[in-house]
Amino acid sequence: MQKITVPHILKMKRDGKKIPVLTAYTFTIARILDRAGIPVLLVGDSVGMVEAGYETTLPVTVDEMVYHTRAVANGRTRALVVSDMPFLSYQVSPEEAKRNAGRLVKEAGAEAVKVEGGVRSAGVIKAITDMDIPVMAHIGLTPQSVHRMGGYKVQGKVKEDAEVLLTDARAVEEAGAFSVVLEGIPSGLARKITEALSIPTIGIGAGPHTDGQVLVVNDMLGLKSNGPDPKFVKKYADLKKVITSSVEEYIKDVEEGKFPARKHTYL
Ligand code: KIV
Repeated sequence: MQKITVPHILKMKRDGKKIPVLTAYTFTIARILDRAGIPVLLVGDSVGMVEAGYETTLPVTVDEMVYHTRAVANGRTRALVVSDMPFLSYQVSPEEAKRNAGRLVKEAGAEAVKVEGGVRSAGVIKAITDMDIPVMAHIGLTPQSVHRMGGYKVQGKVKEDAEVLLTDARAVEEAGAFSVVLEGIPSGLARKITEALSIPTIGIGAGPHTDGQVLVVNDMLGLKSNGPDPKFVKKYADLKKVITSSVEEYIKDVEEGKFPARKHTYL
């Protein structure tokens, strides 16, 4: 089984192979996804909303990312592990960005980090890649910008905004990013950016023309605990239903004295 590396991901684009990416936050899920063959595991700062119940990703700390990234890295043998840099871990200065990216690699076992922002993050992307830590960029609907955007809204719908995003994409490639997430943008724009770049684009809510796709694992497994699924999510399983009926059966078994049975009992 060949270990997936950053050069491997770049070659996938050159060879015209699509790149499937999923988020992971825990040892157990990372191990299952890795054994199932996923090439890239993204420890997203979405962990804060998905696993800790925060309203946005903004409260997530570097310590929390270290904890979850370490758990995911412990669960994988093959996949490339990319860890998100949370809000305030890279915006203040390139020095802080380098130290925090270094922590995710040194203390947690990340093999690359992800940074939100285009032109405005180019300096930070260059600083981090200059210390040999590969960077996945992230443009379009960047969840850490939720207050500026006024919600989680599709970006780049008007011509001027689309041009800004194309400039952002070129800037992160120029700064040394090895790939870029395109989130929440029209499909035509995602295609244009994908054709303009030599690094892979990984889409989420960006249509079918990107080099790869990423989904939040809890969404695609049907584990979303509140609210409707966004339009771009395909639900591959309904684990909420499976868990609910399993727990209901367990409660009934205990209440009726059916569990534990003889085979579950030390005699
Ligand atoms: O935090 C996250 O999970 C992400 C992906 C959805 C791209 O940024």
